[in-house]
Amino acid sequence: MIIAIDGPAGVGKSTVAKLLAARLGCLYLDTGALYRAVAWKVLRSGIQPTDHEQVVKLLLSTSLHMEFNEGMAHVLIDGNSVTGELRTPEVTAAASLVSAIPRVREWLLPIQRQIGECGSVVAEGRDIGTRVFPTAPYKFFLDADATVRVERRHRELVAAGRGEAMEATYQDLSARDQRDRTRQIAPLIPAPDARLIDTSLLSPEQVVEQMMAAMSTEL
Ligand code: DC
Repeated sequence: MIIAIDGPAGVGKSTVAKLLAARLGCLYLDTGALYRAVAWKVLRSGIQPTDHEQVVKLLLSTSLHMEFNEGMAHVLIDGNSVTGELRTPEVTAAASLVSAIPRVREWLLPIQRQIGECGSVVAEGRDIGTRVFPTAPYKFFLDADATVRVERRHRELVAAGRGEAMEATYQDLSARDQRDRTRQIAPLIPAPDARLIDTSLLSPEQVVEQMMAAMSTEL
């Protein structure tokens, strides 16, 4: 069984997806981590994330997979665990750029689908309900006011010891949103059969409750 959760940055997808996966005893698939891992290697290799040709060439000599250990996912690129290095501002910005490259998306598609075959999965990202798992029985699209999303992301950064000016967080989020929503391939849009949830005024637990209620009525 696949539960697809899509939505923009800062909407609370990861928190909610983790809670839901724990509650249902499912694997939690963070597809953003896969884009981030590609971006990590691109930066490591001294390639510009906007250089489509070089990025695509790099994929030919790249292996990427996720390992699940006691409910925790570890991203392995060329056999090395990079999970702890994927949340820096540099990787975040580069992930947004490489995710707009169609061949990168195609390359990651079978990797994501293979993880979906491992059992019941709560998968979160931008195109899970539309492209990665279009036949998922449960699809949710989370959204929230831009101001709320900026505040949430800012709090996360501060908690991770990476406090930056609120204005910088706003600029980063808006630029990523704009790219994710307008890219030609697999843009961020709700699947026609996704249930929309506005999380602006809801706690993560309340969002999970809404999801559980929606799934029980659909069962
Ligand atoms: O969810 P995240 O912030 O970790 O994602 C990092 C980047 O990867 C984000 O800018 C958009 C991209 N992404 C995507 O295009 N499709 C996905 N399914 C997941 C992430």
